[in-house]
Amino acid sequence: MPSLSVMKILLKELMTNEQVPRTPEPKLVMDDVDQVEAYTQAGRESGVMAPVYLFHATQICQVIDSGDHVLDLACGPANQLCMIARLNPDCRFTGIDLSPTMLDQARALATEMGLSNVDFTAGSITDLSGFGDKSVDCIMSTMALHHLPDFDSLRCTMKESARILKDGGGLYLADFGRLKRGDSIEYFASQYKDRQHPLFTLDYLNSLHAAFTLQEYERACAEAFDLRAKVFSTWMVPYMLATRTPPRRALPPRLAQALGAIQADLPDYHKRDFSDLKTFFSLGGVKTPALG
Ligand SMILES: C[S@@+](CC[C@H](N)C(=O)[O-])C[C@H]1O[C@@H](n2cnc3c(N)ncnc32)[C@H](O)[C@@H]1O
Repeated sequence: MPSLSVMKILLKELMTNEQVPRTPEPKLVMDDVDQVEAYTQAGRESGVMAPVYLFHATQICQVIDSGDHVLDLACGPANQLCMIARLNPDCRFTGIDLSPTMLDQARALATEMGLSNVDFTAGSITDLSGFGDKSVDCIMSTMALHHLPDFDSLRCTMKESARILKDGGGLYLADFGRLKRGDSIEYFASQYKDRQHPLFTLDYLNSLHAAFTLQEYERACAEAFDLRAKVFSTWMVPYMLATRTPPRRALPPRLAQALGAIQADLPDYHKRDFSDLKTFFSLGGVKTPALG
């Protein structure tokens, strides 16, 4: 169960008529070495992003199928991508990002993990002209699309994704949804400030201010994918969003076991976050089978 203070924030969100306007990220492309390092550390096994990555990995593994070529939009340091690539050695993964510093981190992580099924390419996710029509089996993205400068860029990214995705392919784009109250944004950004680098707290605050709303996601998704994909959100308050196609497979037992082992290794406070995310997404229509 979420803490009482979180419940209070959620209730205030439900009852307000406010909507804070969007403030785009001050640095759309993350190229500052210290910022990239703080972000990378937050995504490692013990970092604050660990439960979020585990949740999305569980979902992404259901829209992937054996032998797929999977594209990760704005892969950043590839913590999420490398986790999924290790879990799916029979698939090939390409990460795309505009930041050379992020791509350096991503390549170093893939090498450190001994992964031979991942490659990286520099480029913008708003222009996927390097990929042919219906050429990719699956597209994933996590916590990245709020880095786009405006709604037209989100729309463009979705349209490009729809163009390159094969018929029957998988899609899973997870991102924050913009909260309505500035106070709620402040609360969530600094909730774990004692456990994270101050630059990550600032980064998180900027991300929540830059997030698109559920309605914006729904519009961009409907225009690009028609009925092929749908936007889901955390229940009650659309704090986190997942734009996705239906699962293409049930989690194979080997994968369920591997994800369960990662869950078991999380510290208790991360286990709680994972469980909250699972509950709020499940009530919003996104189930997490196989994991307790
Ligand atoms: C917050 S990070 C997310 C990284 C990763 N997906 C994750 O889950 O950890 C956002 C990334 O988007 C990248 N980015 C921003 N605008 C982009 C664009 N137009 N095309 C490609 N990458 C972009 C940034 O450089 C940064 O690496």
